[in-house]
Amino acid sequence: MGRIRRFYYDLFSHFYDGIIDLHSRDKSAALRDYLVRSSGIGPGDCVLDICTGTGSVALRAALAVREGRGKVVALDFSLGMLRKTAKKVRQRDLEGVFPVQADVSDLPFPDGSFDCVTCSHAMYELTAMAREKGLGEIRRVLKDGGRFLMMEHEVPERPFIRFLYKVRLLTMGSGQNREFAKDETAELGEHFSDIRKSSSPTGRSRLLSGKKIVGYSGNVP
Ligand SMILES: C[S@@+](CC[C@H](N)C(=O)[O-])C[C@H]1O[C@@H](n2cnc3c(N)ncnc32)[C@H](O)[C@@H]1O
Repeated sequence: MGRIRRFYYDLFSHFYDGIIDLHSRDKSAALRDYLVRSSGIGPGDCVLDICTGTGSVALRAALAVREGRGKVVALDFSLGMLRKTAKKVRQRDLEGVFPVQADVSDLPFPDGSFDCVTCSHAMYELTAMAREKGLGEIRRVLKDGGRFLMMEHEVPERPFIRFLYKVRLLTMGSGQNREFAKDETAELGEHFSDIRKSSSPTGRSRLLSGKKIVGYSGNVP
């Protein structure tokens, strides 16, 4: 199953940026900027962008951390997507961006490695198991006080786009994912404290974040 998903994303990597540009007419660049600005990351920070795809968030994060020799790990399980990221890094002559192939459910980093973990438009596409394990892994690799930020689409208003959004949840996720998409705060609260939720300037995406506090044992009573 994992292999079929990876194959799908490898194939998709050839069209991904074109489709996003067509669909959003640069609104996606503004969205990814909003995510990076909201993250509070700055010079010298160590950032992990999971499910990085073609690296749109990772490349912006690299600009925010480059003074002070910060680092950004751009992680994805699709080699096709990572090749696109690596090509952009070379074209822009950016330092400090490291593409890594791995699954979110098993992150190849020691505990407490990162100041911030980001994820743009991918949490709804993970299997419930990958998301569950992934959230535990994100918490593990964050430093104490570090933040996890995830951005996702709001339910679209236009009927056809709403239909496509629902198809995405149905085909990529599971019943548990649809529950997660309705309200992410409960599941995030099992791993992180200080859960915050806001709307992007366009109102079409939502941004959620949570903080790792060592000793926090979740919102389960
Ligand atoms: C919709 S794309 C989002 C890409 C990018 N974050 C963006 O905002 O454009 C979802 C990405 O998640 C990756 N992905 C899906 N499941 C994954 C997993 N279990 N581990 C790592 N990456 C995964 C896919 O390969 C794909 O690149």
